[in-house]
Amino acid sequence: MYNLRMRTWKHTDRIIAPSLLAADFSRIKEETVRAIDGGADWMHLDVMDGHFVDNISFGPAVIKAVDRVTDAFLDAHLMISRPDHFLPEFIKAGADMITVHVEADHDVMETLTRIRAAGRMAGLAINPATPLSAAEPFLAHIDMLLCMTVVPGFGGQSFMHEVMPKVRAAADHREKHNLPYHIQVDGGIDAETARHATAAGANVLVAGSSTYKADDMAAAIASIRNA
Ligand code: DX5
Ligand code: ZN
Repeated sequence: MYNLRMRTWKHTDRIIAPSLLAADFSRIKEETVRAIDGGADWMHLDVMDGHFVDNISFGPAVIKAVDRVTDAFLDAHLMISRPDHFLPEFIKAGADMITVHVEADHDVMETLTRIRAAGRMAGLAINPATPLSAAEPFLAHIDMLLCMTVVPGFGGQSFMHEVMPKVRAAADHREKHNLPYHIQVDGGIDAETARHATAAGANVLVAGSSTYKADDMAAAIASIRNA
């Protein structure tokens, strides 16, 4: 079978990553397959610890379960205070991209280095209120910058248009320094907001509610792809 993980994803590719957070957790296997069969490129897996954000979702055990039912690329978004402490668990679970927050309590450079040393892609996330300057020292050492378009913690929130200048600045920086990182947006993405985000320079679009809660998931994914 064609292995999606072996593909080389470039920042010029548009990548749609449905968030499992919006799925029916009693049917993780079916919900994963539904997304991939519906045209998803990556599975976005939102890990929340009830401390870094005010919500608890799931941890490495669920990522491992998803890994067993698909060979799709697994994009783990760690909204946890100590990503450094739990890193080995997420690597073992089968995450292909591990994204950590710059605002979390860790040595960011060291965490990113450890992710890459394990042969995984390293993502760095910044909250809506965090300026790009906070991520700048790390931009030459990451595979993806995640610009949160909602305050993290919950699905179903409204897209924050005010984050778009930061996405633009991240794309400009990438161009200027000839760097390869993807730019991901996460929160409130649907076909309409995807248009604004891609115009600003984002290429990886996380979408929870607008895909999983749609009547026709494949059509919803296609509409974001074609936005
Ligand atoms: C928010 C999460 C998002 C969330 C997106 O904290 O990081 O990935 O699942 O959900 P929607 O697409 O519903 O805004
Ligand atoms: Zn997320």
